[in-house]
Amino acid sequence: MPNNHYAQFIYHYPGYDRTHTIDALREREYIRLDRLGHIYLDYTGGGLYADSQVRQHHELLTSHVFGNPHSLNPTSLAATELVESARQYVLKYFNASPDEYICIFTQNASGALKLVGEAYPFGKGCHYLLTFDNHNSVNGIREFARIKGADVTYIPLMLPDMRVDDAMLDSYLEEGMNGCANLFAYPAQSNFSSVLHPLDWIEKAHAKGWDVLLDAAAFAPSNRLDLGRVKPDFVPLSFYKMFGYPTGVGALLARKAVLGKLHRPWFAGGTITVASVQGDKYYLAEGPAAFEDGTVDYLNIPAVEIGLKHLESIGIQTIHERVRCLTGWMLDNLLDMKHTNGKPLVRIYGPLVTEMRGGAVTANFFNKDEKPIDIRVIEKLANEHNISLRTGCFCNPGAGEIALQISKMELAACFSQPQIAQRLTYDDFRLCIDDKASGAVRVSVGLVSNFDDIQGLLKFAGELLE
Ligand SMILES: Cc1ncc(COP(=O)(O)O)c(C=O)c1O
Repeated sequence: MPNNHYAQFIYHYPGYDRTHTIDALREREYIRLDRLGHIYLDYTGGGLYADSQVRQHHELLTSHVFGNPHSLNPTSLAATELVESARQYVLKYFNASPDEYICIFTQNASGALKLVGEAYPFGKGCHYLLTFDNHNSVNGIREFARIKGADVTYIPLMLPDMRVDDAMLDSYLEEGMNGCANLFAYPAQSNFSSVLHPLDWIEKAHAKGWDVLLDAAAFAPSNRLDLGRVKPDFVPLSFYKMFGYPTGVGALLARKAVLGKLHRPWFAGGTITVASVQGDKYYLAEGPAAFEDGTVDYLNIPAVEIGLKHLESIGIQTIHERVRCLTGWMLDNLLDMKHTNGKPLVRIYGPLVTEMRGGAVTANFFNKDEKPIDIRVIEKLANEHNISLRTGCFCNPGAGEIALQISKMELAACFSQPQIAQRLTYDDFRLCIDDKASGAVRVSVGLVSNFDDIQGLLKFAGELLE
């Protein structure tokens, strides 16, 4: 067994050796990270951009004149050409045939989810089925479903891995055989536990009469999503999570076969061919335009194509392998950390090995008396070490409640306190659930993470040992 840390790491995770192009890339394109001494471990929150992405975008903007795309003048056409080129590039990147999918630009993944939620034809007797493990922007669709009379059902997660039991899923999916509009939503990768939920659920659900919304926001940055092989009906994305820049642009990839089911609750500039005030009529545009309200972010959308090409130049499999190796090493070492009385320092929520999991490790830290260390204390100490990690429940309350074992009854008791009828602050909630941890610490690796980042985190964690 090699005796220095790096050699031990390579011994256990030899695949890392095939990812050194990323070290050279980090030196060339992300040098600001090391120059400023940052240990960036919040890739599930947001990705980082290469200097060259910003440079190329800047050059594009300063060497052309672009106008609002909704016209046929030269500057307008120049912008339209770039927006349409980016749209095609997004489809190509995900191997989505333009005959089968369209790419609708949105503000972010949440914007894409809202488009589906407000336009999906939920109705009485129909179902909205979703995993406990979902981002709040997927949970929020339940409000649209309920207003239209649909039933909302959550599929629980099993501890300790926080995965869904396959047999249980099958029984929930049986509910879809009712000839109604039924939507099943789940994340390809959890933003809480980093579990990779199986993509073969998509066809299982289709076979039982469901449309499938696959939230790929946390998955796409370090996994290949091949829409030639799997065919979810709706895929929301945020591009800043994949390659850092630009912010403010996301997409909904939607299957054309299902798009016709959606009924938008309004129309706006850009979404119609004709609208009349006196005639009181409007006609929706064809294709993506019908879903893009007002003027799209035409100056930033070209930077999406630049970002996708940047990812392709590295290779998503290389990124995936690097993330896998670093995650494995982090898990192994955190799990080994014990206080002098033998009590473990961390409790990790979700899988403890790298199979079918992504690069976020969510945990709580405990003192030697097995009491959780307040996540705000952890965050403050991490900040002092220039480590960017994230604390809370990461907008995924369902996974949080299961991980922290907060029961429905405890929640009902908190939510029914008369003094908080209108507003409940995070501090009120924390006090209410008493000495249980009310959130967790998430450390996530990504595109240009390296061994030193993880060693920095482990050194920091080691300092918490008593
Ligand atoms: C799994 C998942 N879905 C959706 C979102 C929402 O993304 P955005 O905030 O960019 O709309 C996030 C953001 O963290 C996420 O992790």
